Amino acid sequence: MPPTTPPKDRLRLAIQKSGRLSTDSLDLLARCGIKVKAPKEKLLLHSENFPLDVLFVRDDDIPQLVMDGVCDLGIVGNNVLQESALERRSAGTGHAYQIERELDFGGCRLAIALPEERPYSGPADLAGLRIATTYPQLTKRYFAEKGLQAEIVYLSGSVEVAPRLGLAEAICDLVATGSTLDANRLRAVETIFKSTAMLIRSDRPLTAEKAHALEILLRRTDGVQLAAEAKYIMLHAPKAALEAIKKLLPGSENPTLLPLAGDDTKVAVHAVCQEAVFWETMESLKKAGASSILVLPIEKMML
Ligand code: PRP
Ligand code: ZN
Repeated sequence: MPPTTPPKDRLRLAIQKSGRLSTDSLDLLARCGIKVKAPKEKLLLHSENFPLDVLFVRDDDIPQLVMDGVCDLGIVGNNVLQESALERRSAGTGHAYQIERELDFGGCRLAIALPEERPYSGPADLAGLRIATTYPQLTKRYFAEKGLQAEIVYLSGSVEVAPRLGLAEAICDLVATGSTLDANRLRAVETIFKSTAMLIRSDRPLTAEKAHALEILLRRTDGVQLAAEAKYIMLHAPKAALEAIKKLLPGSENPTLLPLAGDDTKVAVHAVCQEAVFWETMESLKKAGASSILVLPIEKMML
């Protein structure tokens, strides 16, 4: 069934087609209650229950699509975003965009790495080296800030093999788990940029309909992100130990107290904890006198 909202009033969001951010990006939409059926061989999918279309593209193309106004929104790593913004600025191309939300996935860092056996005592040791990278702008900026000279060797992929091929002495690449570096006997020596996924928006004005849809999308995104760590705790507490127990509940204010049928020495305590609840916390609660402790996930939140 084709969407009922006219295309000019539907938000267009670019996300990564396949890679580290694609599953988490689709997951975020799903948790925002936005249905997009995911036959990913299609380039563009219409949500059936929200005025939003999703464009599946290479992550490197996302900043450009948003900065050129082809898409209203994009989910992209800050690393790719900053690289592209610097590149467009140096080429004199428009590079305006707005960061709407910093997202809680896609964490990684851009790091300079050397072959394991190469000694390293500080950034000065990098002077004069050839550095292979997919991020020439961010790498150049780092060296300029340090006042060091280095030769940047641009590669569009498989940067980690450059030292073995004799193309460069060092690399500057993304590190997430570190397994790519390990597998290539490289070690990270300097972090030059820390990144997470960002929800970005084009600088062009939105129609009133799109602006309204964006407002809802952002509110839901906030609700999903708030709920991600939050837990709902229920427990029984002896009235005498109530104050001590309340202090142990991580990041919660004003818990709800309920009477317990048939036992007036105890109350039931219900609380939303804004931080993770660890086994250690539960053990401390128990030691303080709490019993029947339940920790439940929270799916959504609106404050
Ligand atoms: C990055 C990077 C490494 C890998 C590092 O590629 O180029 O290959 O991830 O991850 P690890 O530390 O967990 O091994 P990315 O997934 O961003 O792919 P792309 O550059 O092709 O977009
Ligand atoms: Zn990429």
